[in-house]
Amino acid sequence: MPYRFVSADEAASLISHGDVVGFSGFTAAGCPKEIPSAIARRAEQLHAEGVPFQITVISGASSGDAMDGTLARAKAVSRRYPYQNVKDMRAAINDGQVRYTDMHLSEVAQGMRYGFLPRPRVAVVEASQITERGEIVPTYGVGVLPTICRLAEIVIVELNVAVPQALRGLHDICEPADPPYRRELPVYRPGDRVGYDCVRIDPRKIACVVLTDRATEVSSFAETDDVTTRIAANVARFLEGEMQAGRIPREFLPVQSGVGNVANAILKDLGNSPVVPPFEMFTEVIQDSVIDLIKWGRIRLASGSSLTCSPSKIEEILAALDFFRPRLVLRPTEYSNSPEIVRRLGVIAINTALEADLCGAVNSSHVMGRRMMNGIGGSCDFTRNAYLSIFTTPSTAKGGLISSIVPLVAHQDHSEHSVKVLVTEYGVADLRGRSPRERAEEIIAHCAHPDYRPLLQRYLQHCPPGHTAFNPSNCFAFHQAFERSGDMRNAEL
Ligand code: COA
Repeated sequence: MPYRFVSADEAASLISHGDVVGFSGFTAAGCPKEIPSAIARRAEQLHAEGVPFQITVISGASSGDAMDGTLARAKAVSRRYPYQNVKDMRAAINDGQVRYTDMHLSEVAQGMRYGFLPRPRVAVVEASQITERGEIVPTYGVGVLPTICRLAEIVIVELNVAVPQALRGLHDICEPADPPYRRELPVYRPGDRVGYDCVRIDPRKIACVVLTDRATEVSSFAETDDVTTRIAANVARFLEGEMQAGRIPREFLPVQSGVGNVANAILKDLGNSPVVPPFEMFTEVIQDSVIDLIKWGRIRLASGSSLTCSPSKIEEILAALDFFRPRLVLRPTEYSNSPEIVRRLGVIAINTALEADLCGAVNSSHVMGRRMMNGIGGSCDFTRNAYLSIFTTPSTAKGGLISSIVPLVAHQDHSEHSVKVLVTEYGVADLRGRSPRERAEEIIAHCAHPDYRPLLQRYLQHCPPGHTAFNPSNCFAFHQAFERSGDMRNAEL
C-alpha cells in the first residue's frame, strides 16, 4: 500500500486555521470519528496558546456528537453547512458563535462545484477499503463524499477496519455533469445502479491514512408512545384509503420517511398493513425499522444515502450481506435526494413538522421562529417533488403549552403549495384541491388539539375578508402568548 499511515493527531496537523474541510457521511453514519476529535484537540491546544484556529465544516448532512459535538465544544468551527442535529453545535449556532447555512441537502455537492459554497481544501473521509489505484469504498454513509474527494487538494482517509471489506457493492457512486451539459440522472426504479461501487481519485491526493475501529454512534429510539402510535396509524389508514380509492397505484409507490420515532412507527404500521403490498423506499436515511421490514419481505428494497442503524442492526446486515446487498443501495445525496428522481418515481414523502399553520404551511426548523432546531435537511427535496407529501406532528408540544397548529407559522420551510396532507394524533387534514379557508377549517377540525380549536376558530372568524385567512394584528398571538406567559392557551384573540 503506497499510503502514509499516521496518527489522527498527525493527520489533523495538516489542517490549518481558516481551512474549508469537507467530511464524508450522512447522519453519524459514514462520518470520520478519530480525525474530528484530533482537530478539536488541536483547536483547544492552539486556543490555549492564544493562536486562532477555526475551520469551515461541510458535510452531507448531520454528523453526530463525535464530530459536530466535539468540534463545537472545542470552538473549532466558524461556519457549518448544511445540516446539524447535535445539542452543542445547535447552541453554538443559536449563540451566534457558528455561522450556519441551512440548505437543501440535494444542492450541497453542486453548490461546491458551482462555487456558491466554499471549495474544500481538505476532504476527510471514512472508508471501509482503499486500494493502490485510489479507489475509496465508503462505509455506512455517503453524503457528499465523491465531490469533496474530487474538489479537495488533499484527501485524508480514516480507514475503519471494523467495517468488513465485503461491504463493497452496496454503494452506487456517481456525480452528474454540471449545466449546460447535465443529462437526466438515469434512476428509473429505486434500485437502479448508475455509477461505480467506489469513489475513484488520483491516489497521489491521498495525503495519509488513519486507522480506526470505532462503531457508528447511532442512538436507539425511544419506546413508541400513545401519540406516536396514533399518528402512525392515521398515516397508514390514510394511505390505505388512497390505494383503495385508486389514487395510489396498486403496486404502491416508493416511500421516503424522515428520521426518528414517528417515522419508525409509520413504517412498522405500513409494513403490517394488509392492504399495502411489499413496497420500496427511496429515501435519505435507512433506519432500523426498514431493515426489519426487508427481512420480513415487506420492503423489497431501500435506496438512501446512509444506513443509520443501531450497532445490533448493523451486525444483522453484515451477518447476511448476500441477502441485503441486492436490497440496499447507498448513494451520494445528490442522487438519493434528487428532485428529478423523486418526481419521476412518484415518491410518497412523509416528514415531520415543528408547527403548521392554518394555510397549510410548515415550519420544520425554527423554534418560535428564532432558534434553529436542526435545519430543513432533505425534507424540501422530497416534499416539493413528491407524488404525495405528508407532514406529521403531535398536536401539541411541551405538555400542551405549545400548539403545533398555529394561525401563522413563525418561520416557513414548506409552503401551502407543497404540503398536501397534515396528520396529528387527532386525524388527517387532506388539503388537496381546497381553498385557503377550506384548508383552515380542515386543519382545525382534524389536526388541532381540542384545547386549541376554539382559539383557532376565533382567529379565523375575526380575520378580515379576503382570499386567505390572515390577520396581521394577531397572527402571532399564539407565539406572543408563549413568550409572555409560557402557555399558548393564553393567546389574546
Ligand atoms: N415549538 C417549540 N418546540 C417544539 C415544537 C414547537 N412547535 N414542536 C416540537 N418542539 C420541541 C419538542 O418539545 C422537543 O423538545 P425537547 O427536545 O426539548 O423534548 C423537540 O422540539 C423535538 O420534538 P419531537 O416531537 O421529539 O420531534 P422529532 O424528534 O420528531 O423532530 C423535527 C422533529 C421537526 C425537529 C425533525 O423531524 C427535524 O429536524 N426535521 C427537519 C429535517 C427533516 O425533516 N429531515 C428528514 C427529511 S428527509
